[in-house]
Amino acid sequence: MEVFGSKRELEAAVADLIVDVGETAIAERGRFCVVLAGGQTPREAYRLLARDPRCTALPWKDVFVFFGDERCVPPDDDRSNYKMAKDTFLDAVRIPPHNVHRIRGEIEPSAAALAYRKLLVDDIGDPPRFDLVLLGLGEDGHTASLFPGEDPLLDDAALVRATTRPENGTFRVTLTPRAINAARYVSFVVAGAAKAAALKAVRHAHYDPAKVPAQVVAPTDGELCWLADEAAVMGT
Ligand code: 6PG
Repeated sequence: MEVFGSKRELEAAVADLIVDVGETAIAERGRFCVVLAGGQTPREAYRLLARDPRCTALPWKDVFVFFGDERCVPPDDDRSNYKMAKDTFLDAVRIPPHNVHRIRGEIEPSAAALAYRKLLVDDIGDPPRFDLVLLGLGEDGHTASLFPGEDPLLDDAALVRATTRPENGTFRVTLTPRAINAARYVSFVVAGAAKAAALKAVRHAHYDPAKVPAQVVAPTDGELCWLADEAAVMGT
């Protein structure tokens, strides 16, 4: 695990990770397929991608953006993970619009999941081997939209599935562990004291993915890294 003294340092490290993995992927394979995390934690890291020097570090025409999960809301809704990425950096960098593959939160969730699965399989493969998957961590140990109380490996071969957030019943679409774990590089990004208990549980508690879904993240042929600030690890 890499621990940073402040959230600001963590954010810079996440932005640099995206650029570094992107440069390698483009050099080796001609394109960079990256899965973005949603939520609040990665916002500032994404904003850094829109500013010098990082905004010109990657040939954006070779960068292909995907999402680990999405809230089932329209793309212009402030709750949309796509909108968060669009507002923080996608609109500011010279990435061709057709390189950004959002999950269609505005349509029926299972239809959105099927459509996204088809896009991933047709474009990358089954399972899709992303170059980088960024993941957040919920205080309850969830990641993407793999929530406690349901076996995160349910329907794993589907690569993408519709689900609901237990605490409020809102509909979500999420990558399954099979899609996440096929990646070359998976990085959790965790910040804040509120995440300390979840971080400790994921890394040290008895393996019980129905209780701590983030425990299912274990790349089959890739690297897993944890980027956290001191506040998130103080209590572990
Ligand atoms: C989402 C995310 C979710 C998020 C965690 C952490 O759609 O909200 O995919 O998995 O990464 O809930 O969220 P914060 O970064 O806002 O704490």
